[in-house]
Amino acid sequence: MTSHILVALALLAFASFALASDPNPLQDFCVALNDTKLDGVFVNGKFCKDPKLATAEDFFFSGLNIPGNTSNQLGSVVTFANVAQIPGPNTFGVSLVRLDYAPNGLIPPHTHPRASEILTKAVAFAGLSSQNPGVITIANSVLGSNPPISDYVLAIALQVDKKVVDYLQAEFKMDIN
Ligand SMILES: *[C@@H]1O[C@H](CO)[C@@H](O)[C@H](O)[C@H]1NC(C)=O
Ligand SMILES: *[C@@H]1O[C@H](CO)[C@@H](O)[C@H](O)[C@H]1NC(C)=O
Repeated sequence: MTSHILVALALLAFASFALASDPNPLQDFCVALNDTKLDGVFVNGKFCKDPKLATAEDFFFSGLNIPGNTSNQLGSVVTFANVAQIPGPNTFGVSLVRLDYAPNGLIPPHTHPRASEILTKAVAFAGLSSQNPGVITIANSVLGSNPPISDYVLAIALQVDKKVVDYLQAEFKMDIN
């Protein structure tokens, strides 16, 4: 009996690791079609190309060797290699990004609602456990949302004066995501 409970707990613990990734694919591959006109069936958000028509190019992406342009407010730029750029690995639950930073540049605190991320700092590449990890930048979401979160609420939540919140909300009206 105890061993059954242990097994159940172990399974639960294991299952919790799988929460932040894409569901298992139902087929060997599903090259994503870039067609937004068809609507009705969704497999991980993208339609599958007829497997007979898949080509090697569907699985090829180049450009991660090219430094991005960091001349912007954040001093950083993210180059994506996800399902939007490389349709072949659609449903495989993986994507890559290249991160470039200017001196003192940064990528603001954020979360990926659909993925866990492994960052390899030395070469500034990150692998993500989703074909389309999504990104929620905390400051933009809290201060730049539309419609805005009430400055009364944010003043209490952030423990600052309402004027400070109004100033920050005005700064975040521009989209820097
Ligand atoms: C980088 O972006 C800035 C601002 O958009 C632009 O002025 C500059 O020409 C770009 N540099 C390169 C090398 O593309
Ligand atoms: C799919 O379409 C979008 C929007 O038109 C475009 O930015 C993207 O590069 C396309 N992706 C592929 C793999 O063709």
